[in-house]
Amino acid sequence: MSNPSTGDSSGDSIENLSQENRHFPPSPAFAAQANAKSDLYAHAEKDRLAFWEEQARELTWDKSWETVLEWNSPYAKWFVGGKINASVNALDRHVAAGRGDRVAFHFEGEPGDTRTITYAQMLADVSKAAHALTQIGIKAGDRVAIYMPMIPEAAVAMLACARIGAVHSVVFGGFSADALLSRIQDADAKLVITADGGFRKGAAFALKPAVDEALKGKHNVEKVLVVKRTGQETAWNSDRDIWWHELVDSQSSEHTPEFFDSEHPLFILYTSGTTAKPKGIFHTTGGYLTQAAYTHRVVFDIKPEKDVYWCTADVGWITGHSYVVYGPLINGATQVMYEGTPDTPHKGRMFEIVAKYGVTILYTAPTLIRTWMKWGDEFPKAHKLSSLRLLGSVGEPINPEAWMWYREVIGANNCPIVDTWWQTETGAIMISPLPGVTSTKPGSAMKAIPGISAVVVDDNANPVPNGHGGFLILDKPWPSMLRGVWGEDERYKETYWSRFKGIYFAGDGAKLDDEGAIWLMGRVDDVMNVSGHRISTTEVESALVSHEAVAEAAVVGAADEMTGQGIVAFVILRGGIPHAGGEELVKELRAHVTKEIGAIARPRQIMVVAELPKTRSGKIMRRLLKDVAENRAVGDATTLADPNVMKLISEGLNSSKDED
Ligand code: PRX
Repeated sequence: MSNPSTGDSSGDSIENLSQENRHFPPSPAFAAQANAKSDLYAHAEKDRLAFWEEQARELTWDKSWETVLEWNSPYAKWFVGGKINASVNALDRHVAAGRGDRVAFHFEGEPGDTRTITYAQMLADVSKAAHALTQIGIKAGDRVAIYMPMIPEAAVAMLACARIGAVHSVVFGGFSADALLSRIQDADAKLVITADGGFRKGAAFALKPAVDEALKGKHNVEKVLVVKRTGQETAWNSDRDIWWHELVDSQSSEHTPEFFDSEHPLFILYTSGTTAKPKGIFHTTGGYLTQAAYTHRVVFDIKPEKDVYWCTADVGWITGHSYVVYGPLINGATQVMYEGTPDTPHKGRMFEIVAKYGVTILYTAPTLIRTWMKWGDEFPKAHKLSSLRLLGSVGEPINPEAWMWYREVIGANNCPIVDTWWQTETGAIMISPLPGVTSTKPGSAMKAIPGISAVVVDDNANPVPNGHGGFLILDKPWPSMLRGVWGEDERYKETYWSRFKGIYFAGDGAKLDDEGAIWLMGRVDDVMNVSGHRISTTEVESALVSHEAVAEAAVVGAADEMTGQGIVAFVILRGGIPHAGGEELVKELRAHVTKEIGAIARPRQIMVVAELPKTRSGKIMRRLLKDVAENRAVGDATTLADPNVMKLISEGLNSSKDED
């Protein structure tokens, strides 16, 4: 398989890269109607700040800004002096303009229940929820943790926070009680909004017990607001817990919004870094909303009157923030929101939904595309997908095979594909083709969008010539950039601005092909990318060593055909714990990681070993472990303190694969 997008930096990948010479120019028909025209690059280039001001003017401001950008590297302030309300931009202005009857969400629950929610209804719901939050005592600047299934109330809760200036911190519903507690503590949340549970894989799963468990720890949470989704039996603490329907439904549906400073914090979203403690990536309002809306308009070519747009991401991730909640609603789009898994009750469920609602724009992750490929063409072919006109990909490199399959089988060779590169930290899309403008190549995110500057550099921050690889950096501030790591200023500077002094380093490796198109090569730090989700090796290691049987652990991300990377752990057991017959123990360790972090971090494989390969200074040589995990001949091991270790590891493997 030639896979330039996931190769390492060996000469091989460069050769592979030059073999990928398929181009897919936009059709004249698409280009003629596209939101973005080719002159947008030059226009943005001519006066970058004026360009961003134009984009900001697409939003509704209560008071215009005085200064576009104040840049004291690494601290940016955008649209300084401006006053804005995020939920007014997402809802009120559409209703005020007579678009209240337009559908905001076609919600499809996993069991098949549906709800059609118009912009007017969303505004009423958010207004009620905003009153409810105020009644509970939430004020501007307070932090609210949101731990929800993928149901409309998740978006309502986020917008209600934004409406009153409270800072939301959405924690993905798949995270464990421990992970939830650490995020509640770090942000010092005052309120948790959750649900009794949700539907997944054909059954109701519970969420509230994880909140109860988390809140046994130390925290300042005063109330827990609970949406009734499944109706399952739910333990109740009547001093603390409040049913959403009991508090919210009776509130007034009219709410006068307050306007906040452009730099008022909008949300915190935790993401894995290279240490065990997740980072609270923190975003503010005016710049974030500007770039979320602009990118949604030009990259997805949204025509709000006609399109039915479906981004399959959960609101627990940045993609759900920028391309389910803020970008699309600001643009007045009609969306599909689906609660469940792609194979429930059958492997064609998502295609059925595309056909049912006439989805025109579909935005999803390579892992799902590869999973669809594996399941077989008969599932998409059984449904009418001809409404689709644009396809998007995000979260990890998409290999050319998957890209071609997406184009041919899902898009009937008729839809431009936008492979969008960005991060929780960047807040919005940074590198992507522009549909109708860019001639795409399967597997390449192509180049920075108008207004953004992305460069591939060598070790000394010098741009590499075409045909070479290096590190991806962003050398000019952008409106939706993170404003910091919550409560950890040193970490902000150290993580993003120190590798290349004063320049934002994204943590990704990238290559430029002979024509200067960018090919993302994956993370160059100790962060894995599993199914498009970021998980740090250290975080999983520290979860493993918190188990009484484990003395030491080393975790690597090994190439995985389906999920991009899979988590492979090497563990040394404490003295006295038998190595042989460790199946049960391995199972237990896997469950332990699930408990500590969540199922997304469960290792695919755990190998019990007697030693770990270390340099003389004691640093674990992950490169060698990666060779083992990927079934390759072990590379250069000459710097090992004990050269025999790798032999011992390869011989004494007691491994077990995740069969769950
Ligand atoms: O390694 C890159 C990869 O995902 C990382 C960001 O992860 P996260 O903050 O969770 O955001 C994911 C959704 C935006 C990046 O550092 N990544 C994201 N999109 C792509 C990608 N790698 C290659 N191609 C992409 N299109």
